[in-house]
Amino acid sequence: MKSVDKVARVFVCAAQKDEIGRDVAKALKQELKSQGLKIRLLDGEKRKVRVQTCNCLDLCKQCKKGAGAALIIYPEGVAYGDVRPRDVAEIVREHLGEGRVVKRLQLD
Ligand code: FES
Repeated sequence: MKSVDKVARVFVCAAQKDEIGRDVAKALKQELKSQGLKIRLLDGEKRKVRVQTCNCLDLCKQCKKGAGAALIIYPEGVAYGDVRPRDVAEIVREHLGEGRVVKRLQLD
């Protein structure tokens, strides 16, 4: 049986009317693959990174601020808003690769 603790999850809001959430999720999957980060090292432990779309994350105010989508990365519980496909490479490299929060997109 797989241990849930060995997984890092990225939930992307797909509740907006357009396809932005799905586009961001698709871009995240592609970028994880191209940056070789489908497995991330977190606190000395290897975790498979799973990206999935979900219903509203209750961050709608942020979603409606711009044309991008909201997403949350676990286990850290860091939320990002107004994320567009062009922002995804930075989130993957900085947050998932280096463990640095991308401040310009972070939600309070
Ligand atoms: S519509 Fe995106 S968080 Fe609610």
